[in-house]
Amino acid sequence: VAPEIMAAILAANNDTAPSYGADAASTRLGALFADLFECQVRVFPVVSGTAANALALACLTPPWGTIYCHDTAHIVVDECGAPEFFTGGARLVTLAGVDGRLVAADLEAALAVAGAGNVHHMQPAAVSITQASELGTVYRPAEVAAIAEVCRRHAVRLHMDGSRFANALARLGGSPADLTWRVGVEALSFGATKNGALAAEAVVFFDPLLAATFAYRQKRGGHLLAKTRFISAQLEAYLKDDLWLRHARHANDMAARFVAGLKPLRGVQLLYPVEGNEIFLRLPAAAFAALQAAGFAADPWDETGLVRFVTAFDTDPADLDALLAALAGALAGALDGALGGSA
Ligand SMILES: Cc1ncc(COP(=O)(O)O)c(C=O)c1O
Repeated sequence: VAPEIMAAILAANNDTAPSYGADAASTRLGALFADLFECQVRVFPVVSGTAANALALACLTPPWGTIYCHDTAHIVVDECGAPEFFTGGARLVTLAGVDGRLVAADLEAALAVAGAGNVHHMQPAAVSITQASELGTVYRPAEVAAIAEVCRRHAVRLHMDGSRFANALARLGGSPADLTWRVGVEALSFGATKNGALAAEAVVFFDPLLAATFAYRQKRGGHLLAKTRFISAQLEAYLKDDLWLRHARHANDMAARFVAGLKPLRGVQLLYPVEGNEIFLRLPAAAFAALQAAGFAADPWDETGLVRFVTAFDTDPADLDALLAALAGALAGALDGALGGSA
C-alpha cells in the first residue's frame, strides 16, 4: 500500500462517522469524480475489482442478456462466475480480438448474428473491454470509439474494466474523459488497488439512469460496507495531487526499462507490445529453475514457458536490474544446456 494511502486510512480512523457511505469523504466522491471526468457521474466505492465489474455489469444487462468480451477478459476467466451470478444469469460470449483487445469488426459480426429480438436467444446487452488489456496492451481512443459505435447501432451498453486504467492513461496521455465517456464508455470499473491502494475501486456511471439499481445490488450482494469511509479515504488519497498518475507512470517506466534490458538477451521471446506495466515472455524451461535459484518467484503459466512480469508503483530499479542480471544468467545457462555445454 502506498504510504500516502495508508496515512489516509489511519486519518479516517480518528473519529466516529456516519455509516454506509453517509460520511464526509464518501459524500465528496461525487464531486471528486465529476471533476476528474469533467461531467456529472454516479460513483460507488467497492473493495474489489470483481465486485466492481459484476455489479456494474448487472446494471447493464437483464438476466437473459449476453455480455461480449475478449477471450482473456478477467470477467470470463478469473472471476469464478461472479458476473453471471450478480446478473442473475447473463451469458458471457468471448471474441478473439488482437493482442488482448476486442476489434470493432469482430463485434459487429457477432452482434449481426446474435438473434436480437428472437425470443429463443439470449439477447445482446453489453460489451466489456479491459483497459489496459489483460495482455498489457492499451486501447487507443479511436478503437474504443469504433467499438462504442457498434454498441450504439445494436443498442448494447459499453462497460470498461479499468482495473489498470491509470496505466492506460499514463501511456496514452490526454484526460480520463478522452478514454471513457467521450468515446462512448457508459460504465467504468475504476481501479486503484493494483496501483497503490489497499482495497479500493470505484464504479463510475456516466449515464445516471444506468446507476438506478446499483445501490440495491451492492447491498443485496454484500458489498455495501458499513465503514465505507475507509474505501473513500483511499480513493481521495489516490487522486490527490495526481498520486495515481505518478504511480502509473513509474510502473510503466519500470516495464519499459525491463523491456530495454531484455533486448540484448538471447532465448527470450516478448509476446505482446508492452504498453502498460505488464510484460509477457516465453522462456526456456531451464530458465525458470535458475531464476528461482536466484530468489525470483517466476513460475511458468503453461507448458510453453509463458510467464508474466508486472511492475508496480513501488518497483525499485535496482531490483529490476538484479532480475535482468539473473535472467541473463538463466538464459545463458539454458542455452548452454540446450547446446550440450557445461554450466
Ligand atoms: C483486468 C482486471 N479486472 C479485474 C480484476 C479483479 O480484481 P480483484 O482481484 O480485486 O477482484 C483484476 C485482478 O487481477 C484484473 O486484472
